[in-house]
This record gives sequence, C-alpha cells and structure tokens, in this order.
Amino acid sequence: MPGDKSISHRAAIIAAMATGVTRVTNYSTSADCATTLSCLEQLGVRIERRPGEVTIRGVSTDGFRQTKEPIDCGNSGTTMRLLAGILASQPFKSTLTGDASLRSRPMQRVIEPLRMMGATIDSDDGHAPLTITGRRFLKAISYDLLVASAQVKSCILFAGLNAKGCTEVTEEFVTRDHTERMLNHLRVPVETRAGMREGSQVTSVKGPARFSAHLSGLIGDLSIPGDTSSAGYFLAAAVLLPESSIEITGVGVNPTRTLYLGQLQACGLDVEISDTYSEFNEPVGTIRARSSHGSSAPGSSTPLSLRSAIVPQLIDELPLLAVVGSQIEGGIEIRDAAELRVKESDRIAATARNLRAMGAEVEEFKDGLRVAGPAQLRGATIDPRGDHRIAMAFSVAGLIARGETEIKDAACVAVSFPEFFQLLESVVER
Ligand code: S3P
Repeated sequence: MPGDKSISHRAAIIAAMATGVTRVTNYSTSADCATTLSCLEQLGVRIERRPGEVTIRGVSTDGFRQTKEPIDCGNSGTTMRLLAGILASQPFKSTLTGDASLRSRPMQRVIEPLRMMGATIDSDDGHAPLTITGRRFLKAISYDLLVASAQVKSCILFAGLNAKGCTEVTEEFVTRDHTERMLNHLRVPVETRAGMREGSQVTSVKGPARFSAHLSGLIGDLSIPGDTSSAGYFLAAAVLLPESSIEITGVGVNPTRTLYLGQLQACGLDVEISDTYSEFNEPVGTIRARSSHGSSAPGSSTPLSLRSAIVPQLIDELPLLAVVGSQIEGGIEIRDAAELRVKESDRIAATARNLRAMGAEVEEFKDGLRVAGPAQLRGATIDPRGDHRIAMAFSVAGLIARGETEIKDAACVAVSFPEFFQLLESVVER
C-alpha cells in the first residue's frame, strides 16, 4: 500500500517544525498529502520530491514565513486543521482556505481552543476561509474535546509546542495517536494518561518545545507504513468475493486504526494481522484476508452494531463496513456517527443513497444507518459526489454486485489513493 495519509501529513508538518533535514520515505501519494507539502512550501519550508521520497528542511516551530496569498488546503481537512495549530503561534496574519467541500466543513472545533490559547481567528461563521493572527507565545490550556477528532487533538498539541506551560487535551473516546507517537519518537515528550471518566484519555505536551529532525547523524529519517484505511477496500473485496485471498505487507497496524478489522473478525470474516514490528514508533505488519464464502453468509441473527466509543476509531471505514454489512447475516447498524455527515461529503446520505441504488434495504438515522443483510446487490450508477471513500467503498460493492456498476467522477479517489483502480485491476481476476 502507498504510505498512510494521516501519518504522512504529520511527517511533513512535524519535519517542518523540527530543526534539520528529514528524509521521508513512502510518503503518501494522495492529493491531500501533496497539498500539505505545497502549503508548507508557501510557508517558507524547502521541500524536495523524488519518487518514493520527500526531503524536508525544517524551519523550527517558530520559523514559518508569512504568505502573500491565502493558503489553499484543497479538499484536505487534516491539512487545514493541523496547520491552524501552527499558524496560531506564528506572529503574522495568514488565511487558510480550501475547495467548496472543505469550506463547508466545521472549523469551530479548532477555532475555539486556538482562541482560548490567544490566537485571533476570523471565519465565515465557523467555516473556512480562516484568517489567523498568531501570537508568538500562546497560553497553555486544558481542553475537553467536544467532538472525538484526532485532527483537533493534533491541532491543539501543535499549538501547545509554542505555548508556555503544559497543554492538555481530554478526549472522551480515543482517536488515532500518530501525532503523539511521532513527537515521542523525536523525543518531544507527549504523555497520555487515563482521564477521570471511564474510557477517557488525557494527552499533554509541554511548551515551548524545540526539537531536532535527527536523533543521530546528519539527516533525520521517517518511513511511512502502508495505509491501513486504503488496505481496507482490498481486504473487504477478498473476504466478500468467492475463492479470494490477499496478503498486504508493510501496512500500518496501529491499534487506533485497525478496529475495523476486529469488526470484520467479529462477524466471522477471515482476516488476521501477523508479523508485527515497530518502525519509527508506529506498529507495522502483515494483514491477510481470505474469502469467507461458505454455504451460508457470515454474521449472526442480530445486526453487527457499531456505536459510541469505537466509532471514532473506524470513522473512515464506516461506508465500507456498511457495504460489508449488506453481505452478512443480520446486516449492520451504525449509530453515534453524526460526524460522518461532515466529512468530505455527507457520508451517511451518500452510503444510504448508493446502497439503495444497488438494491439494499437501508434505514437512515441522523447519526447513522441500518443496512439489512445479506442482500444480492445489483450493478448501478454511483455518484460519489467527489468523495474518495464513497467511490472506493462502492467499487467494492460493484465487484460483488450482479451486473455492471459505473462510478461517476471516479478520479476523485486520487484525494487519498490515486493508484486505487490500477491496483484493484491488478489483483482482481475476471
Ligand atoms: C484524520 C482524522 C479523522 C479522519 C481523517 C483523518 C487525521 O478525522 O476522518 O480522514 O489524520 O487526523 P477527524 O479527526 O475529524 O475525525
């Protein structure tokens, strides 16, 4: 798999905040991660791109340069929210903007904590464009996340690197921890402890912090594991198609990202993680999946129920899991997932609409959906409305459906996975 998108964003941004040079191998090929690089360049970071490798010359946490033009984050929420955390402490004014989808997504979640830390932020009623006037030394805060979001957590931790004192973020539900792992790898102490409420977690960082890109030698190295979320489409195809199997090596198996595999296992699908090792403080391993087609569909008489605490850890896989749910006995019910409505598209509506177009029975709720299973899907025309994960989840649905499926605007997969169709073509036998 190409490099993980979440980890690549962080590698680029953290390398830019370091002193010294970092060589990042297997950097994500996604359009979103290319956007992060070009935004950093606009902010004065020198970057060299070679096939499979990106070299980033860090400017330190306070060395970014004011841009003449607004910074265009394209379709990438991660780019905008993470950069907001850095710009909050640069002593100049900058504007973050993006495409129509990104400009419609909620930004109050980063505006509020960054204002509490001392930044001045203007927005279009809680949406981008965001104009941020930074302050050299921010105020350290203790902040309770109102939404379970790794982007918001990372934004506050990045701001905390330029705050005086200890910045703490409390999350009720655990979210992906790539920022914490990468900073710890670079010897910036980020601590995580259990919170007061059951299941909650507090993450803290002490500022102001400076750190070097290299632990030893002249150049720092980071290598990005394969993208677990991208792997999911292939693993799901393998378990759902008859007589199929797949093995994906060198893929990220960080426990805050692999909960979707546990859910596949819970409904009797044949997936397993093996040969794990740690690289740059991230767990990496092999994931195998094989066809689970027997005489009857896997699953049980009750729907596979995904709700509350686990939802943030498989948020990106939910459209795919809804497709898988249509193939298992009992179907699937997803609740407490209203966040899906404010992703690159309204993913609850998109999943329901497209599954129905393929003949599935779907009930839509404000915060999720229920899909009956098992259902024989039929080929249909799918409109992903520019959302990469919808296009890929329904490509898997198209493989298991009877008849032909056409994905409109299929090129939108490039937002996270430009090689998706080529790779799929190379592993699927007709
Ligand atoms: C991401 C966090 C998640 C996820 C997104 C990437 C990240 O978003 O959906 O694709 O890299 O931190 P939220 O933090 O908004 O839930």
